[in-house]
Amino acid sequence: MALPVRTLAFLLIGAVLVLGLESACRGVLWRRELNPILRGRLLTERLGCVNCHRPVGAIEIPNPASRWGTVPRFQGGNAFMYGPSRAEIEEFIRFGAPRAWLDEPRVEARLAGQRLRMPAFGDRLSDTEVGSLVSYVAALEGVEPRGGEDAAAGRELARQEGCLSCHGIEGSGGLPNPGSLGGFVPGFLGGNFTDLVANRGEFDEWVRTGTSTRLASNPLIRYFWQRQEISMPAYRETLDEQQIGALWDWVQALRAAS
Ligand code: HEC
Ligand code: HEC
Repeated sequence: MALPVRTLAFLLIGAVLVLGLESACRGVLWRRELNPILRGRLLTERLGCVNCHRPVGAIEIPNPASRWGTVPRFQGGNAFMYGPSRAEIEEFIRFGAPRAWLDEPRVEARLAGQRLRMPAFGDRLSDTEVGSLVSYVAALEGVEPRGGEDAAAGRELARQEGCLSCHGIEGSGGLPNPGSLGGFVPGFLGGNFTDLVANRGEFDEWVRTGTSTRLASNPLIRYFWQRQEISMPAYRETLDEQQIGALWDWVQALRAAS
């Protein structure tokens, strides 16, 4: 049976409104999620850093005559013993190598002779963009991590339990989650965190049970939770109160520093 034109028009307008609302909502949530580490990650994709610095699990590009023999991965790659400071990471990005390398004629000659050379991005980028890239690379490589001893225990746990695989490096968030309200897994740094986690009690509940009874009472949120591809696992069998406390201290240290 054919639908009357008016019904069709209403359905169409309704669909456009729902889709428009969803994409507007996504825009707002994405802006609330942004932080220097996440901005840096997105920049490394846009600027092509990832063409040369391959991800974990990929084969590094051979680079004969260079210091490491390959273009190192950012995380645990051939340069993992090198341990640059934040200042050196910034010099790599601005000038293509640390000042100390460029001032040394022997090293400069090696750089000139290798197959691939790190480009100098300084002229192409604003100071904020350079800062974001430094934050991202430093977070990936564990350079000068934030927080005291309690934070260190929490960070180690977060690595072991795989929290960072979903919530992003140092909880910077933004990894894809198709079907969810924002379209991504929220991290621990931005404004979305405070909407989802009002206090320590709610943090404990999320980690123990993988959900929040406060948010579950909202039908719109329940609708998206049912549709989303990835859900938060429940850690009640794995983590005790003290360990969850260490994770909380780490998240607080991260938020204070970001
Ligand atoms: C054309 C390939 C190429 C591109 C593109 C490239 N790099 Fe590099 N990068 C290198 C090479 C090669 C080294 C190792 C130093 C050497 O052997 O000269 C390096 C080293 C580094 C280092 C120091 C080593 C480490 O892991 O701490 C950092 C930091 C770095 N690059 C950041 C970046 C960033 C950020 C971008 C994008 C804005 C980028 N690179 C783009 C080739 C590249
Ligand atoms: C398989 C992916 C995955 C893993 C692993 C994971 N989470 Fe989650 N987490 C999620 C998803 C998805 C949400 C839900 C966000 C939503 O529904 O809005 C979430 C929500 C949360 C929240 C509340 C929202 C926010 O802003 O982060 C906290 C806190 C949290 N997780 C902490 C952790 C901790 C701590 C660990 C490790 C012990 C962990 N998660 C491991 C996917 C994961």
